[in-house]
Formats: sequence, C-alpha cells, structure tokens
Amino acid sequence: MKSIAIDGPAGAGKSTLARQLAKELGFLYVDTGAIYRTVALAVLRAGIAPEDADKVTDILGTLQIRMDYGPDGEQRMFLDGEDVSQAIREHRVSGLASKVSAIPAVRDFLLDFQRRQAREHSVVMDGRDIGTVVLPQADVKIFLTAAAQARAQRRLLELQQRGQQAEYETILRDIIQRDDLDEHRPIAPLRRAEDAELLDTTHLNLEQSLEELLRMVKEKIDL
Ligand code: DC
Repeated sequence: MKSIAIDGPAGAGKSTLARQLAKELGFLYVDTGAIYRTVALAVLRAGIAPEDADKVTDILGTLQIRMDYGPDGEQRMFLDGEDVSQAIREHRVSGLASKVSAIPAVRDFLLDFQRRQAREHSVVMDGRDIGTVVLPQADVKIFLTAAAQARAQRRLLELQQRGQQAEYETILRDIIQRDDLDEHRPIAPLRRAEDAELLDTTHLNLEQSLEELLRMVKEKIDL
C-alpha cells in the first residue's frame, strides 16, 4: 500500500486536488475533515457545547460513524445510519469542527479510523496532521497552502456554486480564526511536517497545482 499525506489550512485546494490526484493514481481519497465534521454535527445535534470537552468525550462511544464511497466514487459520511454528507458542509459545522477537533479524546477516537483506511488501501489522505501524526510513514508528504485572501475567495465561489449565501468578509474572518485555532491548539496542531514538501497555490490554478502535485509524487513513488 502506498500513502500520500496532504496537509494544510482550509481552502488551500486540498480536497479538490487530493481527490483529483487520487483519481489520477487509482488511489482511494480520504477526506479526514469530513470525519471531524461528522463528529461536530453529532455534537451539535446532541445539544452539547463544542467547548465542553467532558460531554463531547462522553458521547464519542455512542456515535455510529461510517464512511463509504458512492457509485460516483465520492466519499460519503454516515451518522447513525443517516447520510450526512451534505449536512456536514454547512458553514456552522466548519466552526464547530475546528473546536471539537481540538479535543484530545476526539483526535484519539478518530486516529484508528483514519489509519485503518491506509492499511486497507493505497490512499491520498488530506487533513491537518496526516503527515505529522496519522501517517508519519507516508510515502509522500505535501503541505499545501495559499494566502488567506485567496482561500477566502475560493471558499466564497464554492459556497455560491452550491447556492449558499455567503459574504467574503465573513469567510475571510472565519478562515483566519480557524487557522489560528488549528495552528495553536496544543494537540496535533496544523504544521508542516519536517519532511513535507511545500506547495503554495496562491498564484496557481487548479490545473497547474495538480501538475505540480503529480510531479512531486512521481519523484517519490514509482508509478
Ligand atoms: O478540512 P475541513 O475544513 O473539512 O476540516 C474541518 C475541521 O476539522 C478543521 O477546522 C480542522 C479539523 N481537522 C483536523 O483537526 N484534522 C484533520 N486531519 C482534518 C480536519
């Protein structure tokens, strides 16, 4: 099994690029943010404050989280049997996910879940701590980033395409706030692994970014 770890802040193009890269290589794409989002949705539905680490920790054992792939090859998330793939994309879930993902018990709970995927398949896995914590032995590690303004602009477009209302200023503020939370949490903070290669997509379009990613991968893996 081969594994490619792609980490970086929200909106750097990770999920789109990781998905395309996986398709190109015939690997499984694992969006780990979706798994954290599913826990966040469960916390929201349980009426628990995301800062209440004790209560969040208490419900973890009761959660039925499942990940599957649809006929279109897209990763789908299930919470207690319900397909929540759409619901976890809501804006309010993003902020909640950032908060619950700072709770050590949540990270521990999801660690095995994520590692199992990489044991069973060749994967392109994206997240915040894949190269540093989840798959420290990954064959390729990439830290994908872009300026916050470029990321906010992309997120705005993405939400608009989904027909959701959004404002640039709000998104930018949220992105900066989320970066701060993700980078400064004491456990598994967002940071570039020492052996990860940096790819800054601020001035690259999707096609150019994918080309660059493929080049980086081919340097490390014989395909
Ligand atoms: O990539 P995303 O926006 O879907 O991630 C949602 C939140 O989950 C994000 O704020 C940070 C957290 N996360 C994490 O802590 N570790 C991961 N491997 C993936 C996501």
